[in-house]
Amino acid sequence: MAEIVIVDSKRSAGELVAASVRRLIEAKADTVLGLATGSTPLPVYAALAESFRRNPLDVSGVRGFALDEYVGLARGHFESYREVISREVIQPLGLTPNRIHVPNGAAETLQGAGADYERSIEAAGGVDLQLLGIGRTGHLGFNEPGSSFASLTRVKTLAPASRADNARFFATPEEVPRHCITQGLGTIRRARHLVLLAFGAEKASAIAAAVEGPVTASQPGSAIQLHEHVTVVLDEEAAAELANLDFYRYSWANKPAWQGI
Ligand code: F6R
Repeated sequence: MAEIVIVDSKRSAGELVAASVRRLIEAKADTVLGLATGSTPLPVYAALAESFRRNPLDVSGVRGFALDEYVGLARGHFESYREVISREVIQPLGLTPNRIHVPNGAAETLQGAGADYERSIEAAGGVDLQLLGIGRTGHLGFNEPGSSFASLTRVKTLAPASRADNARFFATPEEVPRHCITQGLGTIRRARHLVLLAFGAEKASAIAAAVEGPVTASQPGSAIQLHEHVTVVLDEEAAAELANLDFYRYSWANKPAWQGI
């Protein structure tokens, strides 16, 4: 079962996960992080940046792989995930730019881009800790309902609901690309530790389906149930539809501190 942690704020969520990432880097200087974009992981990146400011740590060896990228945005587009990762992760955390990878969404080289990305992750020894958000559709990465649990990095079509959700980052809804290149659910499942975060009532039903629903490709988030080490960090609103909430709180309250997440 995934471990479910309910926190009182995004800030607490960020601090909890950042502490775990920090411990990982302290133990393994060339830790491989799986990096999500969107709003959800921002408190983690902010807490990590703060932690490194307060108590500097050599992060020059850290490697990273983004989950996904839009297809067809011009190189340097402000909302391309390459730019977002640079702005929100590489710069504030002081990571080494050429050690942080983002799938290549350029149209000319798209055919081989998925396989190339898989090879790079494999060459790095796999992802140690994968940060994840979840879409209202239940998507992980951009694996929309119906995605195979065995899927690897490839080009996918964004669900209209996901395009609409991401329209907030673009000047007009039309500008949101229709296609993306995303790690597959199979890729994500190979990471050694999955940390899924969700905040707000609009994520509650996707979280309930992922954590407690049947394991089904119709709910990509339910792929977490097939993984041996998953931590789900939620605020009260995102946790609201979970049936076993009391047990999750009880388990967390009684967990030996040395276990970490
Ligand atoms: C981001 C990603 C997506 C987002 C999801 C939630 O790299 O792959 O799965 O995690 O769409 O987005 P936010 O966090 O903006 O609500």
